[in-house]
Amino acid sequence: VKALIKNEEILDPNFLPSKILHREKELREMERCIRDLIEERRANNLFIFGRSGVGKTTCVKFIMQRLGGEVIPIYVNCWEHRTPHGILLEIAKQLGKVFPSKGVRSEDISEEIISQLFERKALMAFDEIDKAETLDFLYPILHNLRTTCIFLITNQKDALLRIDERILSRLMLQKLEFKDYNYGEVLDILRERVRLALVPNSMDENALEKIAIETFKACDIRVGLLLILNSARIAEGELAPRITEQHVLRAIERSSLKKEVKLSKYEEMIYQILKEHGELRVKELFHKFCERGADVCDRSFRNYLRNLEKYGVIEILGKKRRIVRLR
Ligand SMILES: Nc1ncnc2c1ncn2[C@@H]1O[C@H](COP(=O)(O)OP(=O)(O)OP(=O)(O)O)[C@@H](O)[C@H]1O
Ligand SMILES: [Mg+2]
Repeated sequence: VKALIKNEEILDPNFLPSKILHREKELREMERCIRDLIEERRANNLFIFGRSGVGKTTCVKFIMQRLGGEVIPIYVNCWEHRTPHGILLEIAKQLGKVFPSKGVRSEDISEEIISQLFERKALMAFDEIDKAETLDFLYPILHNLRTTCIFLITNQKDALLRIDERILSRLMLQKLEFKDYNYGEVLDILRERVRLALVPNSMDENALEKIAIETFKACDIRVGLLLILNSARIAEGELAPRITEQHVLRAIERSSLKKEVKLSKYEEMIYQILKEHGELRVKELFHKFCERGADVCDRSFRNYLRNLEKYGVIEILGKKRRIVRLR
């Protein structure tokens, strides 16, 4: 029996994929800022937000990698560098100027950064901005550097409210929301990772779908990457030739997944019934749903169907929308 994992690195959450799926609009928006910067128009600064694991960091790093020589990329993770002083030290370091960590005044570091970047084009991305103690360090940058474009990134929508009024009004941020992926998008993204990371044909379609629905529920692609890796390891441990749904179920059992889930208990029950039976009439589906002990009225049931349709999990077919099946 051969190994199933071909390239484990591809399943690492920090791996930067060379192809990003389903974020065309968001990437275009970021590219526009950079184009404006290059063509010497006033570029927008962006406030990038969305839930954890929806691809914010990945897209920003992807863009930064492709900047070309004209724009200087600076990326700071504010979870690693929380204080204004620490953030300035990090920016200076990326510009090639390493200061000792103690005994230097913040003003001097600021001055160094400004003199290095003066009249040069730069893109500064501050990731996990909600973890920064304050954004005061931005003040001298905003005041002195007109050709620096700034991206602030966070999974907390209300981080904006905590930014000092004086800085906020100078930033003139444009919002860019990373919406949750729908089920089909999650499936595409994970399928691509499986293709790159595993030996061809080593995962059952059923197994991949199970991973995709768990990932969709948690609203975090990282969950999918972890489940692919762990179910592959379990299957390898058993010397199994392929990864099956059973392996995935065991991987789910063993991992501590997020508590906050996107599908309600009943929505998941409907998904499960359709998975077992394939296409069903709405009436039959409702009947089976009640048989399994669901105690809800027809109206709530229809609500669940509408949600599942909106998430891209099911399709409702026919002129009168009487037939349901998984997408
Ligand atoms: N559209 C996509 N195409 C390919 N991979 C993706 C996509 N979206 C997310 N991923 C993968 O999902 C994982 C999580 O993405 P990322 O780190 O960018 O999330 P995030 O939005 O920055 O989350 P957090 O708010 O927790 O920092 C990464 O491994 C990334 O490669
Ligand atoms: Mg991130």
